[in-house]
Amino acid sequence: MTRRPFVGGNWKMNTDLESGTALASALATELKHGSDAIDVVVFPPYPYLQSVGRVIDGSSIALGAQDVSSEVNGPLTGEVSAEMLLDLGVKWVLVGHSERRHRLGEADSLVAEKFAMAIESGLSVVLCVGETLVQRTTGHAHKVVLDQLASAFECIPADALARVVIAYEPVWAIGTGVAATADDAEEAHGVIRGFIGSRYNSELASGIRIVYGGSVVPVNAKTIFAAPGVDGGLIGGASLKPTDFLSICSSAMIGIATG
Ligand code: 13P
Repeated sequence: MTRRPFVGGNWKMNTDLESGTALASALATELKHGSDAIDVVVFPPYPYLQSVGRVIDGSSIALGAQDVSSEVNGPLTGEVSAEMLLDLGVKWVLVGHSERRHRLGEADSLVAEKFAMAIESGLSVVLCVGETLVQRTTGHAHKVVLDQLASAFECIPADALARVVIAYEPVWAIGTGVAATADDAEEAHGVIRGFIGSRYNSELASGIRIVYGGSVVPVNAKTIFAAPGVDGGLIGGASLKPTDFLSICSSAMIGIATG
């Protein structure tokens, strides 16, 4: 089955109003026309969603948010609901990013609630999973990823999977400059696809997009994206530089077409 490549730019807690809109504008100029060949999504910080949304309007880039509340509304100071995001034209949300799991203490159960809320609200979701270095070196990488998946997908119906991308983001590769090898990514993606096959069915397993994240830069993107089962990337640092991000998007189209 052919899966459309997906590349996301996770800006994290970077940029300001001026640099964020300038970055979006540089990307929108290059990705002006709608394309069936690839999905490109940018995930700016919350305060800049509306401004970035205006800049990319009419381009082929979709707007994403870095988080979403598990609740509909109410007395939850600082939280942002799915409805609020939809109001601003947001189409995608990140759920379960390792920085939220490990630095902000989000448990698997909260990740699952956010995932379910986003899906119920009509958003598309990039669900992030991945093991730490200690979990990997002690031989628990696959178990950790499978446990994260089992919890997250517990309440997700099969007909929602077309709105889900899974990002395999090994924690040891995020922001470290040490990307997983193409073989590492292929193996982990195989485990993840196998999970979808057993939780749902083989057709959904072969249709779901699984992207790799962790120190993807222009020089390694093509090799990683050419690995079987790798459908694109979730990019942190390199998504802040328009030329790097655009080069990575091109590699996703080329690499996956021939990979
Ligand atoms: P880096 O590309 O900076 O390693 O970050 C990856 C990431 O966390 C994307 O969500």
